[in-house]
Amino acid sequence: MGRIKILPTIVVDQIAAGEVVERPASVVKELVENALDAGATAVTVELEDGGRAMIRVSDDGAGMDREDAVLAVDRHATSKIRTAPDLVGVATYGFRGEALASIAAVSTFELETAAADRGTRISVKGGRLDRVDDVARTRGTTATVRRLFANTPARRKFLRARRSETRAAVEALTVLALARLDVSFRLTSDGRTLLDAPRESSVAERIAALFGRNLAEQLIPVEYNTGYVSVRGLVQRPSDARPSGRKAHLFVNGRPFRDHFLVRAAEAGYRATIPAGMRPSLFLAIGVPGDRVDVNVHPAKLEVRFRDKRLVERAVEEAVRESLAPIAAAAAVAEPAPGFPVREAPAEQGSVAWEAPGAQPAQEVLFAAGQEQETAPSALLQIFNTYIVFETPEGMVVVDQHSAHERILYEQAMAELYGGEGGGQRLLLPVTLDLTPEELEAVEAHADLLSRVGYEVAPFGGRSVVLHAVPNPHPRFDAQRCFEELATDLARGRLGGIANRLERFAAMYGCRAAIMSGRGLSPAEMRELVRRLFACDLPPHDVHGRPALVTLSRTELERRFGRS
Ligand SMILES: Nc1ncnc2c1ncn2[C@@H]1O[C@H](COP(=O)(O)OP(=O)(O)OP(=O)(O)O)[C@@H](O)[C@H]1O
Ligand SMILES: [Mg+2]
Repeated sequence: MGRIKILPTIVVDQIAAGEVVERPASVVKELVENALDAGATAVTVELEDGGRAMIRVSDDGAGMDREDAVLAVDRHATSKIRTAPDLVGVATYGFRGEALASIAAVSTFELETAAADRGTRISVKGGRLDRVDDVARTRGTTATVRRLFANTPARRKFLRARRSETRAAVEALTVLALARLDVSFRLTSDGRTLLDAPRESSVAERIAALFGRNLAEQLIPVEYNTGYVSVRGLVQRPSDARPSGRKAHLFVNGRPFRDHFLVRAAEAGYRATIPAGMRPSLFLAIGVPGDRVDVNVHPAKLEVRFRDKRLVERAVEEAVRESLAPIAAAAAVAEPAPGFPVREAPAEQGSVAWEAPGAQPAQEVLFAAGQEQETAPSALLQIFNTYIVFETPEGMVVVDQHSAHERILYEQAMAELYGGEGGGQRLLLPVTLDLTPEELEAVEAHADLLSRVGYEVAPFGGRSVVLHAVPNPHPRFDAQRCFEELATDLARGRLGGIANRLERFAAMYGCRAAIMSGRGLSPAEMRELVRRLFACDLPPHDVHGRPALVTLSRTELERRFGRS
């Protein structure tokens, strides 16, 4: 009896704060979101001791009058929604009316704000309103958080070293800076500037300001619409992807969110243009009607729930795949010189969801993926018996004959593996081959796949097999050598990084069956190779994460010769 008691409000608030305020970075996120919701055009964040000693966020937004300022620090006090249905398609970052109350419950909190020329200062100590004063200040708001978690020692103990807390805070601001190009952001830590992003008109420029020009130059534009879903943004060129250190940022209707499955879907869009384990950087803004996404599903609003998750995943995968197809997605021969304009998706000043990239350059129309061509556009030149060079309206293209052929055979093999029989050629005189026991076992295990690309294999007693039919991918194809190499690859588990069995097999086959470097090609052969390359889904990339072609743009040539 008498063991159950209603908790005092301050304890309730501290518990609730646990969900919203986990570390200094969460305070930065909430305060900056408020600044953006208030229409700020410039946001400044100051940290002391990784945010433990002080976090201050200043904005030039709408500010609050005295009455609102006092209310703002109460729980469930919000100006952003009035009724539950307002939550559908809510365009502001905030909507719960919890952030300021939660922050104030676990810190010493001060709010200075002015909607017009008269300002107000609110102090909250130990979760209770301490003072309300008049102050002189310009329009906008400054929120200062001191002694974070001083009254909740359990929380304070979980804070990491100053460097990691600072890094997390910078990351939180970075995410919002990617969402809002029309606002300038700045973060200083113990007086040092760690982030400085002026207002920008393009995502590429913002990415350059946040992560450096190097990354910005490795990105290709994405623009895709299907049904009610749109996908825009920038993704890393396959040949520039690395196993670690990538940036993956997703936005829906201008709101950052996390979604492991969508990142996976984007990676799936790369298919076999990157080896398994490579992690491309992704910046993708998804647009859906407000009622197709629920933003109120996570205590810190870090996740969202789509009505039709599969549809969005498919759109993202397809958007990425399509963006990799044009020649412009290929690696450039020359890195653009410093100060050289970045290929970018132009965006209007003030846009939240990034604008679509401009019209496709002429060359891409000429070589549109999947579009068969009668003849190649210009004379083809083979150099070093390895590369094929030709001209396009945009510049010069160098194709690696082996990589290109690998891409062609890979895609053809994938179609055959998924779609049934490939065209094997029956041999008048079957060929008998001796294999090692491991190779024999591997060949037997893959007999179905081998037959679908055209190899009809039967056991011949002991360690021998007999080939009754073989594929015929090109006139100089050495079916027997290719089969022996495939058997060895299969036995050794080559390309083990590719998880999908069919993809792995297709990549092995493509690699072994493709025409070699060092082979002279006739003009007709070169034309056919180039024609078939551009009939592929993803012409610019081979199946090992290398380019199948590289480009040298006319602009770059002109720059080099001082013509521009
Ligand atoms: N920087 C600011 N400028 C102007 N008004 C602000 C600012 N910060 C907060 N407010 C006002 O205070 C209210 C409460 O802010 P708070 O962050 O606690 O809740 P919210 O943003 O409405 O919802 P959420 O808890 O989801 O963030 C806001 O609705 C807004 O009206
Ligand atoms: Mg808020």
